[in-house]
Amino acid sequence: MTYPKRIFMTGGCGFIGSHFVRLCLSQGYQVLNLDALTYAASPSTLKDIEGNTNYHFEHGYIQNHDLVRSLLPKFKPDFVVNFAAETHVDRSIDSPAQFIESNVLGAFTILNESRSYYNTLTHDQKKSFRFLHISTDEVFGTCEEDPYRENASYNPSSPYSSSKAAADLIVRSYYHTYKFPILITNCTNNYGPFQFPEKLIPLMIIRALNNESLPIYGNGLQIRDWLYVEDHVEAILKVLTLGQLGETYNIAGLNGEMANKTVVKIICNTMDEVLPRKNNMSYEQLITHVTDRPGHDFRYALNIDKIKKELNWSPTTRFEEGMRKTISWYIENKWWWEEILTRGYEAKRIGLGK
Ligand SMILES: NC(=O)c1ccc[n+]([C@@H]2O[C@H](COP(=O)([O-])OP(=O)(O)OC[C@H]3O[C@@H](n4cnc5c(N)ncnc54)[C@H](O)[C@@H]3O)[C@@H](O)[C@H]2O)c1
Repeated sequence: MTYPKRIFMTGGCGFIGSHFVRLCLSQGYQVLNLDALTYAASPSTLKDIEGNTNYHFEHGYIQNHDLVRSLLPKFKPDFVVNFAAETHVDRSIDSPAQFIESNVLGAFTILNESRSYYNTLTHDQKKSFRFLHISTDEVFGTCEEDPYRENASYNPSSPYSSSKAAADLIVRSYYHTYKFPILITNCTNNYGPFQFPEKLIPLMIIRALNNESLPIYGNGLQIRDWLYVEDHVEAILKVLTLGQLGETYNIAGLNGEMANKTVVKIICNTMDEVLPRKNNMSYEQLITHVTDRPGHDFRYALNIDKIKKELNWSPTTRFEEGMRKTISWYIENKWWWEEILTRGYEAKRIGLGK
């Protein structure tokens, strides 16, 4: 059986998108990546695939409909995958407008232009065309009982999660209204190499490496589920190629649910083994507690029975193993994150809603 081979994706210079680019290239796909190279993208993230003739890059915003409209018939994708988004909750609290622009208007533009392109395809081409939108567990809001299934109602609480929820609903409506072949994935918190140092795990690793305090929001008891990024992109490719059209799939980590404070302690304990501090004290001594994020959801959790049963996908990376790989990567690839710090990212506390 031959599978379609051309993927038009967005946000491929970001954290998860860059892992997806590498996976698709390793599987023989042609990839066109549209990315605006915002602060969250690092030009060197995809350095290792420079010169790969199956990879094509276009610099631009997903909300630029003239650009998107011109790219689709030129590249002739079989699949469109939308990763591009503003992704940091703290930034959404301080500057929500950019989140509406990129996450709502941008997602709408990619979706709507893809539908116009789809309408020009032949019957056979239409049969294999698929549009996948990447979303988050945060759309469901805080979880008090059993982990949410795909049909749980949406209850987002930050400007970030509500912008993602809005896009999910618009994407779903295109299946119901136009039978446009969409899929949606909602995943939990990712971690792994190449994650921008504003997110919890890379922030803690880099601050520990620099012997700086490790600030935990509030009491640190908030619970998240942690998904190793390489497990995640494999799940995305599976949904893209085998998922049932019009459906949503949850994706989560292997026993990844834990409190933020536990995550930071595991980072400290692993670093104590891998790279002991010069003063022989544990990295745990660097932990401090700072003012909590306003409206901080207490717990996110997803049930992944559906993707396990229907698509035979399960996460394979245990948190301790993924964390060891991640810490080693940040130790061995200082050049990557030091370049981000020297170009002006200051890792200052933001998102206090003042
Ligand atoms: N990181 C996570 O833990 C996580 C969890 C759940 C869902 N998600 C979703 O996965 C997707 C990817 O997340 P990530 O962590 O890799 O993001 P990221 O912040 O690391 O990267 C985002 C990428 O998108 C690009 N981008 C942003 N706005 C754009 C626009 N308007 N037009 C074109 N390019 C634009 C940026 O330049 C960057 O390369 C997002 O849709 C996010 O909501 C992420």
